[in-house]
Amino acid sequence: MPEIIAELERRRAAARLGGGQKRIDAQHAKGRLTARERIDLLLDPATFEEVDMYVEHNCIDFGMAEQKIPGDGVVTGSGTINGRLVYVFSQDFTVFGGSLSERHAQKICKIMDMAMKVGAPVIGLNDSGGARIQEGVASLGGYAEVFQRNVLASGVVPQLSVIMGPCAGGAVYSPAMTDFIFMVKDSSYMFVTGPDVVKTVTAEVVSQEELGGASTHTVKSGVADLACENDVEAIHQVRRFFDFLPLNNRQEVPFRPTSDDGERLEMSLDTLVPPNPNKPYDIKELIVKVCDEGDFFELQPNHAGNIVIGFGRIEGRTVGFVANQPMVLAGCLDINSSKKAARFVRFCDAFNIPIVTFVDVPGFLPGVAQEHNGIIKHGAKLLFAYAEATVPKITVITRKAYGGAYDVMASKHLRGDLNYAWPTAEIAVMGAKGAVEIIFRKDIGDAEKIAERTREYEERFANPFVAASKGFIDEVIMPHSTRRRIAIGLRKLRNKQLENPWKKHDNIPL
Ligand code: HXC
Repeated sequence: MPEIIAELERRRAAARLGGGQKRIDAQHAKGRLTARERIDLLLDPATFEEVDMYVEHNCIDFGMAEQKIPGDGVVTGSGTINGRLVYVFSQDFTVFGGSLSERHAQKICKIMDMAMKVGAPVIGLNDSGGARIQEGVASLGGYAEVFQRNVLASGVVPQLSVIMGPCAGGAVYSPAMTDFIFMVKDSSYMFVTGPDVVKTVTAEVVSQEELGGASTHTVKSGVADLACENDVEAIHQVRRFFDFLPLNNRQEVPFRPTSDDGERLEMSLDTLVPPNPNKPYDIKELIVKVCDEGDFFELQPNHAGNIVIGFGRIEGRTVGFVANQPMVLAGCLDINSSKKAARFVRFCDAFNIPIVTFVDVPGFLPGVAQEHNGIIKHGAKLLFAYAEATVPKITVITRKAYGGAYDVMASKHLRGDLNYAWPTAEIAVMGAKGAVEIIFRKDIGDAEKIAERTREYEERFANPFVAASKGFIDEVIMPHSTRRRIAIGLRKLRNKQLENPWKKHDNIPL
């Protein structure tokens, strides 16, 4: 018996060593943690239960039969984050560069299948040279098996990808189909074709970081949701983020006890909106003051800053916030902001997370580039997402709600459950000046008349009461009572029942 136990210990130790000390040292020298160190940081102490530790590849080409490393480049299993179950895979760059073989893929698929069966999220820590080159099509098949599961799991269990090293070629499509992507700055990159291929095909010279680093994907492309300073910070952020998520699509959002009174008044909000309607203010101040303990987890903070998205809690329960940001492009909706918010709204709806929307939107961004790049179709994404969402929806118009954007931003007409306006709200087809110049075009030369007409239009529409008189606004509320109103509203809406008509699936304008 002792020999058998010793043999088990020996095998375990061999697997834990991955590609060997030299390669572990090389990984550390790059400022990166190993696959196992990452899992240790991610999960609650001593909760990780590994599976498939002894799995080896089945490749015999290119001398691979002699090179077998137990685990085959990915560590898989389950554990808990603050006591809640999660399935994890962590690619081990020290083993064949974390490249994906048929068996490596099978390991990932196994934990994804388990996660689906028991209704727990999947977190993937990606650090891989892509398809195991020696295996050829077997590796491509492995990827596709993972892709298929990503799709089936979408909307059933939350899926989160952390990119902590290379992620190139078709390999990017697994993270792309998960719900959220976090990246590590100056250490991770994602691209479909790398700098060398780009140079050959288009003669463009670009670095890895510039082409697909964290700063590119969290600022320009919007592919990733968060850029983190290093491995440790990334994992810390994942743990914090995980606490906002329900475990699956049949569960309620998690509850975290709080001492922050849901009915807390915030007097400073009464002066948040400046008297000059063209002066910006920071909508994040409102979100932070409304959230429990000011704890707001913003996603994509540096991409499409004209809309703010992220999670907070009210009375201990997760809420998704969507808010126009007057500080960026005056809070206009454009292609990027519509796409950013639409995907977020759909995530919230899929996972029973109530949506609170703060509106200060002067309309859609005009411009040839916007039109030619399809603002019609992209803007429709957000409209579609809000309209199909059946979770509790509470909307507060703080200032402008103009034109089509008024409709889009969780208006009453899109089944908003509670639609509030601050006294500073202006709900109209457009701003007074633009409106008067169109409907009184013949008076344009007469400054006095135009000023008079503008005043008239402002009096009529630069307030929330016309909309309120039609029942489009349920109540005009004091800014200082916004948190209280939302908290009371969410309490009432907890048992909301609303179903869309049966369909195979919808056809959102992709
Ligand atoms: C097998 C690989 C590998 C791969 C790296 N290695 N990538 N083994 N298949 N795809 C091995 C190396 O041979 C090396 O082994 C070890 O991993 C570390 O690699 P290095 O090159 O020494 O590391 P580094 O200098 O940090 O460079 C990392 C890298 C580079 C940029 C990822 O290895 C690289 O370019 N790899 C190939 C990437 C690639 O073309 N992948 C296929 C993409 S196409 P030793 O034994 O020396 O430690 C694809 C299609 C997916 O993925 C399609 C899905 C539908």
